[in-house]
Amino acid sequence: MAASVITVPPGTVEQDLPALLGEPARALRRGALVAFPTETVYGLGADALDPAAVERIFHAKGRPADNPLIVHLPDAAWLGRVVAHVTPLARRLAERWWPGPLTLVLDAADVVPRVTTGGLSTVAVRVPANPLARTLIAVAGTPVAAPSANLSGRPSPTTAAHVQADLGGRIDWILDGGPCPVGIESTVVDARGDAPVVLREGTVTREDLGVDVTAESGSPLSPGTRFAHYQPSARVVVASAGQGGDVAAEIAERQTTGLIGPTLPGLDPRVSVLASPLGAAELATVLYDALRQADVRGLDVVVVEAVPSHGLGRAVMDRVRRAAGGGGVVPTG
Ligand code: TXA
Ligand code: MG
Repeated sequence: MAASVITVPPGTVEQDLPALLGEPARALRRGALVAFPTETVYGLGADALDPAAVERIFHAKGRPADNPLIVHLPDAAWLGRVVAHVTPLARRLAERWWPGPLTLVLDAADVVPRVTTGGLSTVAVRVPANPLARTLIAVAGTPVAAPSANLSGRPSPTTAAHVQADLGGRIDWILDGGPCPVGIESTVVDARGDAPVVLREGTVTREDLGVDVTAESGSPLSPGTRFAHYQPSARVVVASAGQGGDVAAEIAERQTTGLIGPTLPGLDPRVSVLASPLGAAELATVLYDALRQADVRGLDVVVVEAVPSHGLGRAVMDRVRRAAGGGGVVPTG
């Protein structure tokens, strides 16, 4: 089975989207798997209230059954459909950040199947910023469960081509809306109490939320952090700031090596430059594509130069360290 593809050209006016997306939206409602762009990464969507459809997501991705999914809504007015109780904190955060890259964990309504929540009594919800995503869900008329549209463990997809490479033969539809501008997944926040508890960092930063700590990796509150993530076949090495070129050149003496980081004149010509981001936001946007490029080029090693670990930088470096299998930063010298 090959996925049907719909390409939505940039600049398509929002009023034209419902007609363009009618067919995949109806398929979604009948239990199909539809990949769609969001501002963060591409999601692999299924009707969140249909256990058999959601089951197919886990199967297509090879995802562990106890890693819960995010339920996507077209607007905050739908919260009551999937959440038992909307806390004042959730209301406040939704008003400030939706549509946008913030996911709220709340007590689930009874209609949400346990396969969607990975067996938990809570449900994660967000309203994505991409109008294509919101229109798809609104036309389907049902909340849409969607993890990132990659094979479990691989870097998340930031283009339709990434989705095609990982899942093209296993899903029904791919909506191609161009590359995702943010490039890393949404911030996940437990919003059941009086203050937000950050479970996964993202572009909405701890600083934005006025929070000092992130829940410990692997904590029962944050099931997703227990699993291997974002890993290409190439070995990922993290170099400290300013050292990417030198670390890559040293490794390139023995192994084929790529670099993700600012490039300076005089870089060893044996090093393949995969991306030259300047700063955390650019690194977020290019990271997953560059990690995938390393595999397309068959490289042995990819060196990622670290960005300062605060704000968005901390969220990106969390992904980079996981891509490196949790390994530390290569010391300078
Ligand atoms: O930006 C994003 O969040 C993308 C796009 C497609 O929306 N989605 C995404 O989904 O990254 P996924 O499945 O790759 O990551 C979902 C994260 C996991 O870390 C999962 O453990 C957490 O959200 N999560 C989901 N439901 C939860 C719950 N009830 N309690 C705690 N964490 C939850
Ligand atoms: Mg994921």
